Amino acid sequence: MKAIELNHPLVEHKLSILRNKKTGTKEFREIVSELATMLCYEAMKDAELNEIEIETPIQKMTAHVINEDKYAFVPILRAGTGMLDGIIKVVPNAKIGHIGMYRDEETFVPNVYFFKVPKDIEKRDVIILDPMLATGGSGLDAIELLKEKGVKNIKFLCIIAAPEGIKRIEEKHPDVQIYCAHIDEKLNEHAYIVPGLGDAGDRIFGTK
Ligand code: PRP
Ligand code: URA
Repeated sequence: MKAIELNHPLVEHKLSILRNKKTGTKEFREIVSELATMLCYEAMKDAELNEIEIETPIQKMTAHVINEDKYAFVPILRAGTGMLDGIIKVVPNAKIGHIGMYRDEETFVPNVYFFKVPKDIEKRDVIILDPMLATGGSGLDAIELLKEKGVKNIKFLCIIAAPEGIKRIEEKHPDVQIYCAHIDEKLNEHAYIVPGLGDAGDRIFGTK
C-alpha cells in the first residue's frame, strides 16, 4: 500500500510552526495534538459504523456511530504519547496500548522496554502513533510485536516520514497503511529526518 500523505494547506501551515526551532514546548505539543486529529480523521475514513435509532427535535431517524470497540490506538513511547490528546478528542472511548522503545544513539537500532496492550488486541484494528518515521526500525518492531499478538489490521500514523522508513515498512509489511502529514527528503548521517523537526520526544517533553 502506498503511504498516504495529507495534502492540505492547514497541515502545511501547522507543519511550518512545528518545524521552526523557535517554536516552544507549549505550541509544539498543541500542534502535534492537532495534526494527530487530522491524521486520525483521514485514517478512520473507512471506519466501521453501527446503526442506532435516535430522535432529532424534528423526527425519529436511523443514525450512525463508530464501533469504538473495534479499534485500539498504540503510541510508541515517548513521542507517540504526544499524539494521544488529539486522538482522544475525536475517539473519546479509545482503548490505548503502549509500546516503549528508544533508538540506540549509535546504531539507531530500537530497544523495546515496555509492552502493554488491551487484552483483546487480536480482535481490534490497531492504529500505531509515532510522530517520526525515520529509519523505520521502531515502526517495524512495533508492527511485528503486534502481529505476534495476533493483530491483523494495522495502520501507522506519523507526522513526518522519511522515504527510507516508508520503503522499509512497505517492503516488509505491505498490508500496513502508513498515513503521514509530510514525506520529507532524506535521513542525515545521524538518522535524523531532513529537514524534519529535530527530536520529537525532546521537543514534546522539553528534555533538551
Ligand atoms: C524517535 C521517534 C520514533 C523513532 C523513529 O523516538 O519518536 O519512535 O525515533 O526513528 P526510527 O524510525 O529510526 O526507528 P526515540 O527513539 O528518539 O525515543 P523518544 O520518543 O523517547 O524520544
Ligand atoms: N526521531 C526523531 O525524533 N527525529 C528524527 O528526525 C528521527 C528520529
